[in-house]
Amino acid sequence: MSRRPTPPALVGRERERAEIDDLLARTAEGAGGALVLRGQPGIGKTALLDHAAARAPGALVLRTTGVEHESALAFAGLYDLVGPLTDTLLAMPPERSAALAAAVGLSEAAGDGAVPDRFRVATQLMMLLAAAAERQPLLLLVDDAQWLDRPSSDAVLFAARRLRAEAVAVLIAVRDGEPGDFTTPGLAELLVEGLPGPDAAALLARAGQDLAPTVRARLLDEAHGNPLALLELPGSLIRN
Ligand SMILES: Nc1ncnc2c1ncn2[C@@H]1O[C@H](COP(=O)(O)OP(=O)(O)O)[C@@H](O)[C@H]1O
Ligand SMILES: [Mg+2]
Repeated sequence: MSRRPTPPALVGRERERAEIDDLLARTAEGAGGALVLRGQPGIGKTALLDHAAARAPGALVLRTTGVEHESALAFAGLYDLVGPLTDTLLAMPPERSAALAAAVGLSEAAGDGAVPDRFRVATQLMMLLAAAAERQPLLLLVDDAQWLDRPSSDAVLFAARRLRAEAVAVLIAVRDGEPGDFTTPGLAELLVEGLPGPDAAALLARAGQDLAPTVRARLLDEAHGNPLALLELPGSLIRN
């Protein structure tokens, strides 16, 4: 499981947290599901994924982040995601694991350099997750999915659409407005929008600087509730 610093408490986001907490509760009871968080850069998608990880102490957290310069590297995303399940994968019969093991570089099962069959990889990912979830609930966190390599995102979406009667929760964060269409038909979606006025003001206050009321008002107006802007703009004003 990844060791990340405890994030500071979220301001607001009651509706989003309730939806995530509800998914986690259903997952703990054995019937998870998937939720796509969509929104502009800095709006708080990663913060919500961190919140989910912190709210699922009994779950095994599997996490991967799309990286723009790796998006042409087939299966790079799956490599991170299934890493914690390596032992489970290698213990499965080869006919249920060989393509996935080869895809993430755990074996030469696909032959010398042959590309693993993408459909097999997807079905074997689904079987691996279902097997692992019999022992412990799983929480899959996919961040910056717009940059995930296509074979990995296809496999994750294939599994996410089908694992509804297992203890598997899938949260996928996607940046809005990127070229390259990362669409997720069939999955529930939560649009992450700007923080409402009072929450935005509370976050700006947390950013710490003493701001003149007129400056504060202007920042609130310009940030449109974007948390990254609220946290960064005061500092940039002082530095400039
Ligand atoms: N509701 C919130 N309360 C407090 N801080 C937040 C909140 N949402 C986001 N942040 C902070 O704002 C910054 C940008 O959020 P992040 O989750 O990285 O955005 P995104 O992943 O959508 O680009 C981060 O420093 C994050 O910790
Ligand atoms: Mg992010």
